[in-house]
Amino acid sequence: MSVESTVRAVTTLRLTEMKQRGEKIAMLTSYDYSMAKIVDATGIDVILVGDSAANVMAGYETTLPITLDEMIYHARSVVRATKRALVVVDLPFGTYQGNSKVALDSAVRIMKETEADAIKMEGGEEILESVQRILTAGIPIMGHLGLTPQSIHKFGTYNVRAKEEVEAAKLVRDAHLLEEAGCFACVLEKIPAALATRVSQELRIPTIGIGAGAGCDGQVLVIHDMLGINKGFSPRFLRRYADLDTVITGAVSQYIDDVKSLDFPNEKEQY
Ligand code: KIV
Repeated sequence: MSVESTVRAVTTLRLTEMKQRGEKIAMLTSYDYSMAKIVDATGIDVILVGDSAANVMAGYETTLPITLDEMIYHARSVVRATKRALVVVDLPFGTYQGNSKVALDSAVRIMKETEADAIKMEGGEEILESVQRILTAGIPIMGHLGLTPQSIHKFGTYNVRAKEEVEAAKLVRDAHLLEEAGCFACVLEKIPAALATRVSQELRIPTIGIGAGAGCDGQVLVIHDMLGINKGFSPRFLRRYADLDTVITGAVSQYIDDVKSLDFPNEKEQY
C-alpha cells in the first residue's frame, strides 16, 4: 500500500473548502469498528469518536468518567474501519484542562496510538494555551463551544447556553480566539440559532452545530440517539432516523421464542 492511499479522502482543508462553496458538512459519532464501517461507507464527512461514549457505550450519567485509555481504545477501533471520513477524537475530561504540557501529551497519545486525524477540545479562552501548544505540534483541533458537557457540574443543567448577552459575547470572542489560534472547525452545542448563525457567518472555519440551528456549516448527532437506540434522550433538536430499540427488541424476542420452542436451529442451520 502506498503512503498516499492511507490518507483519508476527507481532510481538514476539504472541510474549509466545503464551507467556502456552501456545501453542508455531515458528522456523526461512532465508537466501535462495526458501526464505523457502516457509517464510513455511507459517505459521511466526519466521524467523531465523542466522549459521549461515556454515556451511550459505558452507561455513565456524564462524560466525565471516561479515561484517555478508553478513548484510545474506541478511537483505534473506529480508525481501523474508516477509509474515507475524517476521524476526530475527543480529548476526555481531565487530560487537557489547566496544564498545556499534559494537554500536549494527551493529544500526542491520541494521534500516535490511534492514527486518527484530529482531536476535539471543549472550551475557549480558558484552554487557549493548551490549544496553541497542541497546534504548534501539528495536531489539528476542532473546538467545542456553547454547552460543553465536560463542564456540566459548573453549569448545573444541560439547558440551552448563551441566551444572555454576556455569555453570548464571550462565546463569539472564544470562537474568534479558536479560529485565530488555528483550529480547523468548531462545534457549537445547544445555543440559540441566531447566535450560531452569526458565529458561522463571522468565522472562516466551519461550524458544526448540535441543537444550534440551520445556520451552522454542518451538523452532528450522537449515532445512538439518531438511530433510536438510546430512547431515553429526546431533546427538541434530535431527529430520529430509525427506531432500532424496537427493531432489536423484536429480533431478540423472536430469537428467544425460537430457541424455547425448538424452532432454532433447524436442520439447515446445523452441521
Ligand atoms: O461527545 C460527543 O458526542 C460530542 C458531540 C455531541 C458534539 O461532543
